[in-house]
Amino acid sequence: MKPIRFFKPVIFLACLAPLAALAWKAYSGNLGANPIEVITHATGDWTIRFLLITLSVTPLRKLTRQPWLIRFRRMFGLFAFFYGVLHFLTYIWLDKFFNFHEMLTDIAKRRFITVGFTGFLLLIPLALTSTAGWIRRLGGKRWQMLHRLIYFSAIAGVIHYLWLVKADIRKPLQYAAILALLLGYRIFVWLQSRFKSKKPSPLSRPTIEVSEG
Ligand code: HEM
Repeated sequence: MKPIRFFKPVIFLACLAPLAALAWKAYSGNLGANPIEVITHATGDWTIRFLLITLSVTPLRKLTRQPWLIRFRRMFGLFAFFYGVLHFLTYIWLDKFFNFHEMLTDIAKRRFITVGFTGFLLLIPLALTSTAGWIRRLGGKRWQMLHRLIYFSAIAGVIHYLWLVKADIRKPLQYAAILALLLGYRIFVWLQSRFKSKKPSPLSRPTIEVSEG
């Protein structure tokens, strides 16, 4: 329990480091010729990275048999949402100057914006229901079902990135490969559990009486 109490604030500060780096660049005038692009790219990158980090916690916890790792999952998920909000704010504030008409046209007409917006919307119920109170209110099973939306948000995020790049698709493909691995792991575990539950247990097997005649 003690190492977690020590690690939590350290990890929390580490999660804020990308924002601090960006703020420092802005303060020191090092955002380059197109600061809005730099901010959009950095916040978008960190949104997808935190989504993937959040999805890594369960496989890592199971494979390393370190149950305490689960205590960081909520923090990583909320940081994905936090960077998503910054990314979205950069778009509506710095890019579109709160011109909602232009924004809605963009969401409707540019497919990479449509899918990115969908990914962002999917994160909102997850952030809102991330508290212990909501887990109790919804009940473990329903809460878990709802929080599977993170898979779809991450898929939307990767498609968003794949659709927005014009030439070099290596980076979005790297994210896609990591996501495929993380989702593949879950499919594997699910198939394994289904296979196990279908196998009759030795206790329920009918016993064969062998009569020697
Ligand atoms: C789950 C939600 C989202 C994720 C994971 C995400 C992720 C990303 C990533 C990884 C990039 C590229 C970064 C780079 O080039 O290094 C990006 C760029 C961008 N995103 Fe998002 N994004 C999300 C939602 C949104 C939303 C809601 C909007 C606006 C409505 C948006 C608008 C943009 C724009 C305008 C760019 C830059 C496009 C360009 O360079 O031409 N994104 N995003």
